[in-house]
Amino acid sequence: MKKMWIIIGVILLCLLGVSLFFFFNYEKKDSIEDKLKQNGYSNAEVTLILNMVSNNDYDLVLNLGYDKSLISILSSSDYQESLFENYIEYYVKNKDENINDIITIVNSGYDLMDYPASSLLASLVKEKYYINNNVARYLDYGNSHNVDSKKVISMVNSKADLGFYSNIYDSDLNVGNLVLVNKFYHLKEDYTPNDLVTLSGQYNRGANNKMRKEAADALMKMVDAAGLENITIYNVSAFRSYDYQVNLYNGYIKRDGQVAADKYSARPGYSEHQTGLCADLNNVSDSFDGSDEAIWLKNNAYKYGFILRFPKGKEDITGYKYESWHYRYVGIEAAKVIYEDDITLEEYYAYYIEKAPS
Ligand code: DAL
Ligand code: ZN
Repeated sequence: MKKMWIIIGVILLCLLGVSLFFFFNYEKKDSIEDKLKQNGYSNAEVTLILNMVSNNDYDLVLNLGYDKSLISILSSSDYQESLFENYIEYYVKNKDENINDIITIVNSGYDLMDYPASSLLASLVKEKYYINNNVARYLDYGNSHNVDSKKVISMVNSKADLGFYSNIYDSDLNVGNLVLVNKFYHLKEDYTPNDLVTLSGQYNRGANNKMRKEAADALMKMVDAAGLENITIYNVSAFRSYDYQVNLYNGYIKRDGQVAADKYSARPGYSEHQTGLCADLNNVSDSFDGSDEAIWLKNNAYKYGFILRFPKGKEDITGYKYESWHYRYVGIEAAKVIYEDDITLEEYYAYYIEKAPS
């Protein structure tokens, strides 16, 4: 009997505890709501705050008074509730900073005391091709090289900061026309595209005259368009097999030594000529640069899905000296972005293909 009374007592005490908990919480929430309204927040804004900010942080909200930026922070799709205090701390110290940049900076996980708005990190996040996963390498590279943040992003996104041929991956053939073959990504010895077609007639003057069907069709369309403007374009070297590249590369090493050869020739498996998606056009020589044909290609190739693959000034990103004759098919959509944003296929690939969806 006594035992039963004890159990009943405990149950009653529990019920009382739960009731008090809800009562006080309700009271607290209610008064927060009033205070927020007194601060000037609209009903919708109050609801947003109550939904997005944990109870522990209400004081922080109230201290801000009415602040439209708070609403922008809470409305961002990248906002994380657990980082609320960090957003506010950073925001209060850097009120002029763009709200999206603040969110990105805080989400990067870096100690904010070390990274004020004037810092490298703050300028990196403003770059279009900023990738949060690369932030540690951006800061390493940027702090040890005297270059602007755009260059930091390019060097890191392309992996060039790691050193050419230092990390080797298999090229992902599932991405079709966007397959990346460079000093980090390579093709297997036995890879040959299964849809090679032969370029002939006015479109070709070389022995390596095969290209993948879609690329060959686009090349012919481009050559036809150039012809209408009295510009004569033709292939001199398109698909090259792994074995062909072995002989070519070894010949260059014999002639110039490996260090020099690596600047203008790909090692076997690392040449995008093995993809069947590129072509050397007209004249494989530095003297091609500046010709009417080279200028026409530079200005128009993207309209047909081709990009100048190894541009001038991007040698440290692509790993190759400028090749005014080497055009790579990537499809019109990617070619347009690469042309307009003046980036390399490496940078396009890192951002649009490799970056995990955020
Ligand atoms: N000349 C280019 C880089 C190649 O060998 O594929
Ligand atoms: Zn080439």
